[in-house]
Amino acid sequence: MRQDILDFLIHHKDEFVSGQQISDQLGISRTAVWKHIRALKQRGYVIESYTKKGYCLREAPELLSEKAILDGLQTKFVGRPVVYRERVDSTNNVAKKLADQGAPEGTIIVAEEQTGGRGRINRTFLSPYAKGVWFSLILRPDISPMEVAKMTLLAAVAVARSIRRHGLADCGIKWPNDILVQGRKMVGILTELNGSAEKVNYIIMGIGVNTDIMADDLPEDLKSIVTSFAREGIRVSRLALLETLLAEIERLYDTVCRQGFSQVLAEWRSLSCMLGQEVTVSSVNRTFSGMARDIDENGNLLVDTAAGTEVVMAGDIHVR
Ligand code: BTN
Repeated sequence: MRQDILDFLIHHKDEFVSGQQISDQLGISRTAVWKHIRALKQRGYVIESYTKKGYCLREAPELLSEKAILDGLQTKFVGRPVVYRERVDSTNNVAKKLADQGAPEGTIIVAEEQTGGRGRINRTFLSPYAKGVWFSLILRPDISPMEVAKMTLLAAVAVARSIRRHGLADCGIKWPNDILVQGRKMVGILTELNGSAEKVNYIIMGIGVNTDIMADDLPEDLKSIVTSFAREGIRVSRLALLETLLAEIERLYDTVCRQGFSQVLAEWRSLSCMLGQEVTVSSVNRTFSGMARDIDENGNLLVDTAAGTEVVMAGDIHVR
């Protein structure tokens, strides 16, 4: 029914149609019309509504359909084929199922909305309808499982470069893979591994970039720590951003397959916003402070403390 209402509004785009007209045309109550319109507005449709005039569709969100993505794709294999879903629990979950069934390297699973978006350390990741780019890639690199953490750094570099190219030149990477703008988080990256101690079967590289999230979309505790292109005053095409992201990932992934991770590590260092800063590290069983000096060849963070250098493999970092 919601699609019928949308089709009706699209047919009458930029014209006012009354609730009564819609309800007569589709055989539903005016209250039901109003409820569907409210849901469409939450999904990013700009619909003007006045008691006497009715409803007028002004703008529809740009959706990430399979065709739209493939039409603009500049890559050889990253982002092909496209598996598009309007709503999923988590694109990483769908990606895992497809990878287990043998989906080829490069497959992308992209959704308008995730109802159970997942973050690191079992956290949830907010992914409202058409307000960000939420996707997962299936990769099958010929690397040792020990090197998988560096695939996360690869993703962070690709995302930071893409965000810069779309107008936010001051974004930086916080170890290992948060992308911050003005100290607030804009991106989440979750890399998951399937394999044994000796061999990687596949990696799921899950990335979420906030494009249109506004303060109203965020729970109170996230308002001061999460940002988006829109909150930074930049209007970005989600399609164009996705195409840049996939091209940047492919470029770095190609380099890693040919030459290893040294270039990724060098680019990560130059895009980092925390090296040289005082940090507090919280890991599973302890918390300590020091100066984040560098990352080592495995991508671990090196923190200089009064007692010597700590090698951090996992943990939450707070920049002081
Ligand atoms: C984090 O910030 O802790 C990581 C968040 C990762 C979110 C992305 S969105 C696409 C993919 N699907 C998920 O469920 N998570 C990742």
